[in-house]
Amino acid sequence: ATVRYEAESSPAVCNGTIDSNHTGYSGSGFCNSSNAAGAYNQFTVNAAAAGTASLAIRYAHGATDTRSADIVVNGATVAAASAFPATGGWTSWSTKTVSVPLNAGSNTIRLSASSAAGLANIDYVEVTDGAPPQQNGR
Ligand code: GCU
Ligand code: CA
Repeated sequence: ATVRYEAESSPAVCNGTIDSNHTGYSGSGFCNSSNAAGAYNQFTVNAAAAGTASLAIRYAHGATDTRSADIVVNGATVAAASAFPATGGWTSWSTKTVSVPLNAGSNTIRLSASSAAGLANIDYVEVTDGAPPQQNGR
């Protein structure tokens, strides 16, 4: 199943501001992290079973510097300094996909800036786990 988690929706935490000044986002806005290494956007995601899930991160990066983030799952860095290439404008959104190990039940996934400029603007993450799609009553 694939579930979307908006960057601006609690229990997600945006270490920065929730902005809506660049169009094309989903939901009511996006996370504009503070311009600092270690600035973060953290999500709480659910998995039906333990295993590897696909994490799709929708973001925009309209400047030309290199933005990168550590992908931290349940406190452990699973991908260090993962690159978020420029998208050509702050209203141009792209999706970056990484594999993450999840526990059954609740997990935290933190995107933690590894460059001084902070994160790219983050719209949402989508988590796809290996669970089969639900079929009504069967
Ligand atoms: C601009 C842009 C922000 C972005 C920031 C940045 O200020 O409007 O949305 O987050 O640049 O470089 O991080
Ligand atoms: Ca920013």
